[in-house]
Amino acid sequence: MKHARKKITVVGAGFVGSTCAHWAAARELGDVVLVDINDGAAKGKALDLFESSPVEHFDARITGTADYKDTAGSDVVIITAGIPRKPGMSRDDLLTTNAKIMKDVCKGLRPHSPNAVVIVVSNPLDAMAYVAMKELDFPRERVIGMAGVLDGARFRSFIAEELKCSVKDVHAFVLGGHGDTMVPMPRHCSVGGIPLLEILPKDRVDALVKRTREGGAEIVGLLKTGSAYYAPSASAVQMAESILRDQGRILPCAAFLQGEYGIKNLFVGVMCKLGGGGLEKVYEIKLNDEERASLANSTKAVQELVDALGKLNL
Ligand code: NAI
Ligand code: 2OP
Repeated sequence: MKHARKKITVVGAGFVGSTCAHWAAARELGDVVLVDINDGAAKGKALDLFESSPVEHFDARITGTADYKDTAGSDVVIITAGIPRKPGMSRDDLLTTNAKIMKDVCKGLRPHSPNAVVIVVSNPLDAMAYVAMKELDFPRERVIGMAGVLDGARFRSFIAEELKCSVKDVHAFVLGGHGDTMVPMPRHCSVGGIPLLEILPKDRVDALVKRTREGGAEIVGLLKTGSAYYAPSASAVQMAESILRDQGRILPCAAFLQGEYGIKNLFVGVMCKLGGGGLEKVYEIKLNDEERASLANSTKAVQELVDALGKLNL
């Protein structure tokens, strides 16, 4: 009999990975397998989380492992393995170390879950999604990067805080690569359906855009020992939920573009539909000159990282 519950593998049992497991189990998205080279950490966190389930009233088996055999038949895989940044480091400084880790992880996953939809979280995000895509050799529908949901959530939080309104009424998204060149889209923000630019002065909007761009560094500066994990993991799990429950959510994600926006063979953040098949649609929206130039600039930064990857002897 086929296993009735969905299976979610989370690779990397660090801050982001273990919190992904937490959100996914608490929402009863399925059974969760937590994988880490440090199998004690994976097993210990999985057991601890499982032991919270009678209190929190969720049904999900959560197991920890260092063996990819235990991940067999996963419906969705979230990859968070890799080192995070420390103060003064950019996401790009992680390139060499995390590219090696990403390759190893994909080698381990591929034979056991050839039909999984893979959500990449490790940084530098757009380049790591590229490494995963090459190593897994999956169609683009099944390798998707998480960044826009997080960057958009930061933007939405800051807008709600500024307007002292409910976060539930704020819609906003961010395009482009997950780096300093990301492209928040104020022209497409709305609050209860009202365009943001009609109710907030331009200089305030610009300040929120700047804070969004620097949102990752703001948390790194405060934590000092690592980077953000609550909002990143919630964002990855929202993507996983849309896929596992075939919701068709329209979310900003890093997709392997095939000519959309004039971009080819690169992961760049764009608006997507996520459903049972993974990436079900890429929306190509009309951009004004300024937005087009910002997206081109951001794409250039992603291309430079991918070029740098090509020079690494992995
Ligand atoms: P962390 O250091 O807490 O956890 C990383 C885990 O990966 C560790 O437990 C480590 O043992 C494990 N690991 C290392 N090599 C491995 C391998 N070959 N196989 C399996 N596991 C391995 O780091 P944290 O905070 O969880 O961040 C993880 C990654 O996610 C970082 O690269 C970080 O920059 C990235 N990130 C990306 C975001 C995004 O928006 N895309 C947001 C937040 C973090
Ligand atoms: C963030 O934006 C570090 O990419 C991570 O928080």
